[in-house]
Amino acid sequence: MGRIDRLLAAMTVEEKIGQLNMVAPSRVVTAPGEPRDVDEGIRAGRIGNFLNFWGGDEVHAVQRLAVEESRLGIPLLLGLDVIHGHHTIFPVPLAEACLFDRDLWEKTARAAAEEAAQDGIALTFAPMLDVARDPRWGRIVESPGEDPWVASEFARAKTRGFQGHDLSAASSIAATAKHLCAYGAVTAGREYASVDLAERTLHEVYLPPFSAAVAAGIAAIMPALIDIAGVPMTANAPLLQGWLRCHLGFDGVLISDYNAIAGLRNHGVAKDTAEAAALALKAGVDIDMVSNAYAQGLPEALQRGLITMTEVDASVRRVLKLKERLGLFEDPYRRGAAERGTTNQRKLARDVGRRAIVLLTHSGGILPLSPEIRHIALVGPLAAAPGEMLGPWASAGRGQEAASILEGLKAALPHCQIDSAPGVDVSGEDMRGISAAVERCRDAELVILCLGEDASMSGEAASRADLGLPGCQRALAEMAFDLGRPVVVLLSSGRPLALPWLFERADAVLATWFLGTEAGHAVADVLTGKFNPTGKLSVTWPRHVGQVPIFYGQRPSGRPTRAGGRDTGSYLDLPSTPQFSFGHGLSYSRFTLHDLRCKPSCVKVGESVEVSISVHNDSLIGGEATLFLFVRDVVASIARPLLELKGVRKIVLGPGERGDLIWPLPVESLAFVGPGLDPILEPGLFEIHLGQSAEATELLTGIIELV
Ligand code: BGC
Repeated sequence: MGRIDRLLAAMTVEEKIGQLNMVAPSRVVTAPGEPRDVDEGIRAGRIGNFLNFWGGDEVHAVQRLAVEESRLGIPLLLGLDVIHGHHTIFPVPLAEACLFDRDLWEKTARAAAEEAAQDGIALTFAPMLDVARDPRWGRIVESPGEDPWVASEFARAKTRGFQGHDLSAASSIAATAKHLCAYGAVTAGREYASVDLAERTLHEVYLPPFSAAVAAGIAAIMPALIDIAGVPMTANAPLLQGWLRCHLGFDGVLISDYNAIAGLRNHGVAKDTAEAAALALKAGVDIDMVSNAYAQGLPEALQRGLITMTEVDASVRRVLKLKERLGLFEDPYRRGAAERGTTNQRKLARDVGRRAIVLLTHSGGILPLSPEIRHIALVGPLAAAPGEMLGPWASAGRGQEAASILEGLKAALPHCQIDSAPGVDVSGEDMRGISAAVERCRDAELVILCLGEDASMSGEAASRADLGLPGCQRALAEMAFDLGRPVVVLLSSGRPLALPWLFERADAVLATWFLGTEAGHAVADVLTGKFNPTGKLSVTWPRHVGQVPIFYGQRPSGRPTRAGGRDTGSYLDLPSTPQFSFGHGLSYSRFTLHDLRCKPSCVKVGESVEVSISVHNDSLIGGEATLFLFVRDVVASIARPLLELKGVRKIVLGPGERGDLIWPLPVESLAFVGPGLDPILEPGLFEIHLGQSAEATELLTGIIELV
């Protein structure tokens, strides 16, 4: 008999349910101190898992209670939201997605895993794989953006990064793909609201990143807090048991979201805790995160015959298996044993930070800054705000260790006078600081405005109905513009902000998101030209909140939009086009695309099309171009989107240099979710579109035929 069978045979019902129980000790809320309330629970085997708690010594102390003082000595599993770094904080996921770089996505996850594992953590509740198309939703900041292909690539890279080659290694942690699924489609972008969408959209848009994570060997998955058409995901047996476990063959652990099992009563699908616990367990949810519904409700659910012991055993087996895969039985103290500080990831954080910056507008060649510049006014509430640079979900990151924009610029421009003033707070009505801040701008050669949101304005429970600048920031900006000096705007935010007036008036605007520990240095690298910007929007940027949800992969209309005229799909009061397309992002170089070729032009199943393109750097500055390959299935049994992303490539070109990119496009990648919701490949014509963004007017187009 193997270890897990032996343990299962020896466990009492209470000990089994203990393995399905995850608790949050009060210590994370109330600062260090023994979690006495739970000590007895661990010794008695009633608590098998923890979250929100870290530090080698502290973790080992509770681990010792489980391993040395409980009857069966089963080690604890410790989880934490290590979302975009642990001590060293990297850019928020929406910003990191703007890199379109699998290797770097993997590297930051590896670095985060190493730091978290040094703190005794064995499990992260990341990556978040919710495709997000509505910037009102605060959790868009945690997502890889609007595109399912990108989210799937992100899923694979993050799974590899967190889990490494060997999950049992002291530097590896188990990853949790969350939140299955369609959380990004909450009604009106309102946090936790119900979701109602077509099954086709579920299969085309929201599920693929989770399939990719499963194929990459993800250890755990978290169902979303929402309901889809009245079926809460925590109790959604068709999707969790049917699609995930049976269809995809996922045999890892399903961890509920925070308090989600007890929340089934609020959803109105369970009349008491026993029913809630039974619904979740039957749907395949193994671990109850903090709601205590399994501890309280499963014994009664067993008695009432709502569930069977075989179902309980199946979940316990999966939890024990994960602990075994993590090497916790072999050596429960492996993680948390290394000295802290042996990993220094700041260099990586700076590189990823500058690559995540998106140069949104740039006119008049104001950037990069001249090395001769001697006087800058750095104004706005986010100019000297190191803590805000970390963004939401900053794990163990410390604001005082982060580089503010002021600090970064001072270090990069030691001979330049930099006068800084906040002018206003991020939100609030107090305008008294504006005149002093504007005074600072009067004699400066350049004004840099640091505007946007603070870190708490995106993330969980942070939906916004308005996508403008909060507080009195617009008043500050308008007065600075009125001075007539050149103005560069740095926008820190967890979502695209709809600011057409600002894009019109500024000489350059950069999306600087929340870039993490090295934010200030990353920004300085781009402003000074030490780094030529390469970031590309992972999400379409609206002109107005009334346009959302807005995304590039729209289906064609029977009455296509034409400029002017009332028979079009345009708004009466607004263009239907976005402020910036998916993939938009300027460079200090200028690239043009030529000679798109698709060979052969006629293909069969099993073959591949070779797509090639010539890229020219028409500028005097070396840089990196990013190219997007989209496909449109011209006629199909189900109307296909106007553009579907199938690949992204980058090429580095010196001043005036030209280079070719060659892309194999396997015919199988032209398949789509057919009328029966299974993938099918239909013969016919396919347009191949290549461009530097999804902006339709700038795409080069070829055509192939599948016979
Ligand atoms: C969030 C999850 C998170 C969990 C634990 C929940 O409220 O929805 O994303 O992993 O809390 O912190």
